[in-house]
Amino acid sequence: MKADINFMKEEFFRKFGDRAKDPVVFYSPGRVNLIGEHTDYNGGYVFPCALDFGTSLVARKIEKPEIRLASLNFPGDTVISVSSSYTAIQGSWTNYPVGVINEFAKKGISAPGLELLFYGDIPNGAGLSSSASIELVMAVAMNELTASRLDTMELVKIGQRAENLFVGMNCGIMDQFAVAFGRKDHAINLNCDTLVYKYAPLRLGTRRLIITNTNKRRGLTDSKYNERRSECEKAVEYISAHRRISNLSELTVNDLSLLDKCIPDEVVRRRARHVITENARTLGAISALEKDDIETFGRLMNESHDSLCTDYEVTGVELDTLVYEGRRLPGVTGTRMTGAGFGGCTVSIVEGEHAGAFMEKLGAVYTGKTGLKADFYLPGIGDGARRID
Ligand code: GLA
Repeated sequence: MKADINFMKEEFFRKFGDRAKDPVVFYSPGRVNLIGEHTDYNGGYVFPCALDFGTSLVARKIEKPEIRLASLNFPGDTVISVSSSYTAIQGSWTNYPVGVINEFAKKGISAPGLELLFYGDIPNGAGLSSSASIELVMAVAMNELTASRLDTMELVKIGQRAENLFVGMNCGIMDQFAVAFGRKDHAINLNCDTLVYKYAPLRLGTRRLIITNTNKRRGLTDSKYNERRSECEKAVEYISAHRRISNLSELTVNDLSLLDKCIPDEVVRRRARHVITENARTLGAISALEKDDIETFGRLMNESHDSLCTDYEVTGVELDTLVYEGRRLPGVTGTRMTGAGFGGCTVSIVEGEHAGAFMEKLGAVYTGKTGLKADFYLPGIGDGARRID
């Protein structure tokens, strides 16, 4: 179901009453990353785009100094008092918005009394950034309702800090950035070290973007993710004994021999190799797209997945089945996992005339091999977080 403003407002009034005072509606999309995976927290390149589905938030200021939070997706309406600092509630969805409110409080921007109703149509835990979407819709709303005029990059950082410090997931900046800065029909080429970015029109011609959800529950994702981050930090430490670097993206493919020389731990060496080669693939893919060379773009997507599978080890049987079985089907230009991995989704570029058969055949093979049912989405590329009413 796509969020409809009237429907959302109706639900809001049912929940909070007082039809005399109109609420304001905000929206923030999900994202899909096309290439450049596990590079953001290593100061590297990413190439995500915002989707045309996401999270809506209906919000209204109230006199009473309390924040009332409700969601159409999750049970457990919550009321908390406006405060100068907030504490997380173990396992609660409210940690995403409250983490953002807490970051505003740290800046001396106190929340007014608020009534908040969220509704999202991003599948949860699918690696399409439902968390960043909630964070940014909250950040945009707080910015407007407190007339704070923080710029979009500041809102991105608030979202990321909420996730790192309040939710406890040590993510990089890509997801919050993509959902905040998304632009219709464009992907964003972001240098995560300098935060310099450039929009690139996503011209796929007769081809379609298809997202496939493994529907695998992503139990250990956060701990495995944080483990990969520390392995990369370890690699920087090893290399720094020979050459001072502050992140892995300061190295290029010409420096790969340095890894054998400096890193005694074979696993850490492979992690570093993924990051360095992934940066090269990402830059290569972006320039291929500029030249409308989608074949090369697709080949680099495939190579990206192979590296995430063997060097970075964040794929698993479900993602690998979708990718390696998908590649055997006609009309597939490129296919890879997207997001953190360990489950979640793949993103594929498929010739339009083969899209139907791709979804049907891959769905059947996937169920046969894993016992799970895959979901397929044909997303549009949408705009970033904003007020919509
Ligand atoms: C998750 C994180 C991002 C990024 C990706 C992997 O989505 O939130 O910061 O690290 O994984 O590329």
